[in-house]
Amino acid sequence: MLIIGNWKMNGTPLDVAALESIAETARAAPATEVVICPPFTMLTAVAGTAGLKCGAQDCHEADAGAFTGCVSAPMIKAAGADYVLVGHSERRRLHSETNEVVVAKATAAIRAALIPVICVGETASERAAGDAYRTVNEQLRAVIRTLRGDIVVAYEPVWAIGTGNVPSVRDVQEMMARLGSMLREGVGLDAKLVYGGSVGAANAAAFLQVEHVSGVLLGGASLRLEEMRQIINVSSSGVGARRADAGP
Ligand code: PGA
Repeated sequence: MLIIGNWKMNGTPLDVAALESIAETARAAPATEVVICPPFTMLTAVAGTAGLKCGAQDCHEADAGAFTGCVSAPMIKAAGADYVLVGHSERRRLHSETNEVVVAKATAAIRAALIPVICVGETASERAAGDAYRTVNEQLRAVIRTLRGDIVVAYEPVWAIGTGNVPSVRDVQEMMARLGSMLREGVGLDAKLVYGGSVGAANAAAFLQVEHVSGVLLGGASLRLEEMRQIINVSSSGVGARRADAGP
């Protein structure tokens, strides 16, 4: 199970106590991989904390060059990270990132031996129009055509991010089944699926038990330490095993 915490624009290298408290729980849950995605200024602090994996929240598609304010995938790798989020809905919306840009960033991540966590998801109006799958399919089509290697796909309905609203387990199950079969068409692509959008201690177990789901991507809950620790404990308490026992 993969528990990914996206700290967004929160945290400074002074927050070592918070990291250590998450790491302590993570170390007691060896079957769960806990990835913290802090701001760039904290990458080395996370990478240096035993028990945690480190991820960045974005990367540039080029390896180096005249791109003021940007950070490249090889730089992120050199800081000790193993993962990088690409195409988060806040980047798509606030920084006008297109599907093409997202694929270029994911390609740069794989080139640098990072695992890209490719975020996809429909808006509320797309869902209301019955276009949820079509949107996500479009976001992933180029990924499947172009990428080779390990990736994580995070299904995050835009309307669920930071709102407290979540899709039903049934809707997530249906979307994950469709994404799973779509991703299996990719040649040389090893993809894991995670769910994100208003996941907290109260609903994490339900999402972790959905077939094809290998973890969750947390925003707000990853900053609430006690809640983060509870979610790690839920994931390591055999939720996945129970799902396997339940059969198809
Ligand atoms: P949230 O954010 O858990 O606060 O909804 C999720 C995300 O932005 O990845």
